Amino acid sequence: MTPTPVTPESILYAAELLRQGQLVAFPTETVYGLGADASNPEAVARIFAAKGRPADHPLIVHIASPEQIDDWAEDAPDSARKLAHAFWPGPLTIILNKKAKAISAVTGGQNTVALRIPANPVALDLLRAFGGGIAAPSANRFGRISPTQACHVAEELGDSVACILDGGSCSIGVESTIIDLSDEHPAILRPGRITRSKLKAVLQTDVRLSSKSQIRAPGMMAVHYAPNTMAMLCPAESLITMIDELCAKGKNLGILAFSPAMAETPCEHLIRLPEQAENYETALYSALRELDNLQLDMILIEQPPENEAWAAVNDRLGKATA
Ligand code: TXA
Ligand code: MG
Repeated sequence: MTPTPVTPESILYAAELLRQGQLVAFPTETVYGLGADASNPEAVARIFAAKGRPADHPLIVHIASPEQIDDWAEDAPDSARKLAHAFWPGPLTIILNKKAKAISAVTGGQNTVALRIPANPVALDLLRAFGGGIAAPSANRFGRISPTQACHVAEELGDSVACILDGGSCSIGVESTIIDLSDEHPAILRPGRITRSKLKAVLQTDVRLSSKSQIRAPGMMAVHYAPNTMAMLCPAESLITMIDELCAKGKNLGILAFSPAMAETPCEHLIRLPEQAENYETALYSALRELDNLQLDMILIEQPPENEAWAAVNDRLGKATA
């Protein structure tokens, strides 16, 4: 499936495809989504078929305005409205107790629903043109690296999608932060660009890092976001030695590094990522995908710092190298 350039006409066409129960891949500020009409169980079933994803894994419902929270969620707490006000449109997904409109094909049979307003003009135009909620996971095959460009979606999903809207590269590049507000203790189910400190500052209360059952957020499973090539995290101090040893054994290596010292490393497939956490985050998936496509023996990844700014990166790298 060749990506479609974004025009007012192609947005209307994509909205019409959604109404017909077809799948439309679209850009968000985080990663590309694989969208279907969230109110149509057959359309939603197509998402799971296209991704090869187990049907009990719930999907995020993307909406166009905060007023739509109450269409999908029962008794949404003030905390949800505060977060929506502070961070939407933006890379935050809020889990709330669901209303009947959130069908079990979308919620994976749970009594909660995940909601988000994406901060991407194409996504917002599509949501407005369509009018309803768009259920959308990341537009990759189950367990694979999330797509941050339209060509990645084409690579992942081929013709199982009716249209891929090409909105260029995603500005954030990792999936949204997920916060669970379905009970009185807010908990982060997946770290993202909206950090725990930012959430705490708005909520004026503690926000836990979740210890909830893994199945509730398959993004939390060990083997998620994984490249096909074996990937390994390596502290900067030992990276050079490691590269030397493996090269001496004739291994064909890919390297993902960010510290300036690594720029001199004699390795053909070295991608130097930005030193700043958010810029690194934005570039990560496409770099990982590029190395993964080279049929290398192994990808060595320089271990980033262990602090909050790097939480989303460390979470994804942990999974990519599990
Ligand atoms: O940035 C994003 O969130 C992207 C873009 C397209 O919006 N979407 C995305 O979707 O990453 P997906 O399906 O790859 O990841 C959504 C995560 C999954 O781990 C899913 O289990 C979790 O959200 N989730 C959805 N509904 C949930 C619910 N009711 N309770 C707990 N987790 C839920
Ligand atoms: Mg995903």
